Amino acid sequence: MATAEQIKALLESHVEGDDDRFLSTVLQLAEHAARRGHGKLAQELRAMIDKAREAERPGSRPPTPLAQPRGELAGLLGASYPQTRLADMILAPDIREQLDRVVREQRQRDKLAERRLHPRRKLLLVGPPGTGKTYSARALAGELHLPLFTVALDSVIARYTADTAAKLRLVFEAAARTRGVYFFDDLDALGGERANPGDVGEARRTLSSFLQFIEQDESDSLLVAAIHHGAVLDRALFRRYDDLIEFAMPDPERVLQTLQARLAAMAPTSIDWNLIAKAGAGLSYADLVWACDDAAKDAVLNDRTEIATRAVVAALQRRHKPTRQ
Ligand SMILES: Nc1ncnc2c1ncn2[C@@H]1O[C@H](COP(=O)(O)OP(=O)(O)O)[C@@H](O)[C@H]1O
Ligand SMILES: [Mg+2]
Repeated sequence: MATAEQIKALLESHVEGDDDRFLSTVLQLAEHAARRGHGKLAQELRAMIDKAREAERPGSRPPTPLAQPRGELAGLLGASYPQTRLADMILAPDIREQLDRVVREQRQRDKLAERRLHPRRKLLLVGPPGTGKTYSARALAGELHLPLFTVALDSVIARYTADTAAKLRLVFEAAARTRGVYFFDDLDALGGERANPGDVGEARRTLSSFLQFIEQDESDSLLVAAIHHGAVLDRALFRRYDDLIEFAMPDPERVLQTLQARLAAMAPTSIDWNLIAKAGAGLSYADLVWACDDAAKDAVLNDRTEIATRAVVAALQRRHKPTRQ
């Protein structure tokens, strides 16, 4: 049932006292079981994980005092405490490894500090929409039990046109004060491409102050920025980060995994995974998930407990962009 790798991971996490990894591995086992058609076992395992996580989280959690941005910051930062885990995501092995590494270094930052080493904490996520950039920021916060503070750069620019550098300074001051994952979404907005001609200068100025703040930052927070088109910004941008993580559209294997994970609870054993995976080829993770949920909702609303292959195929086809103009 469990693979050798999973058994090793269970033992290792037990020895290291890494409860998160232990439970994540059990969750992988549950997914594995679900894919093999052992729905009952999968359900039991998931229920046990939920219970364990609940127990692990006494009333006083989250551990960082519930930091809700106040005053001016409230307009700049959205705060949340995600429970998302990396194990919840379907990831290509290289991306998974990069994200795991961030978590490992962060969890053992005291050990690194003894040798004057610093954990990775300035990350640039590059990739097309719907490939898991925002999801990863949430999962990093979830894994590290840190609050997630999201900064919508485009709305900062739109709202404070001439004053963005001062507003950004507030955000970086907060990062130094309250440890968290600070997620700067949609860095493209600073690339100038989408800005009105009149705003281009301001966007560029904002970008250069943003880069300066990133470079100067010596806080304990994680600074995560997401961008769709790496090409928009020059190499100078990449230099300021500890890691560049490139997200991509799912390959056929990942398409299948995403569909299987999302449909696990309602897929009959007769479902034609090959056909479904073919219909999903070329879609982003977000589109795949959307289509699965659509098919699942239809089934529920029609009082069916199982999803038909053709209903999923149809939902996936609706998600493909029309080719006609
Ligand atoms: N790698 C992934 N594994 C599983 N689901 C994913 C993945 N990437 C995206 N999704 C699904 O798509 C939704 C949108 O993804 P998101 O992270 O917001 O994309 P991005 O920020 O790259 O545009 C997520 O909430 C999740 O449901
Ligand atoms: Mg996003």
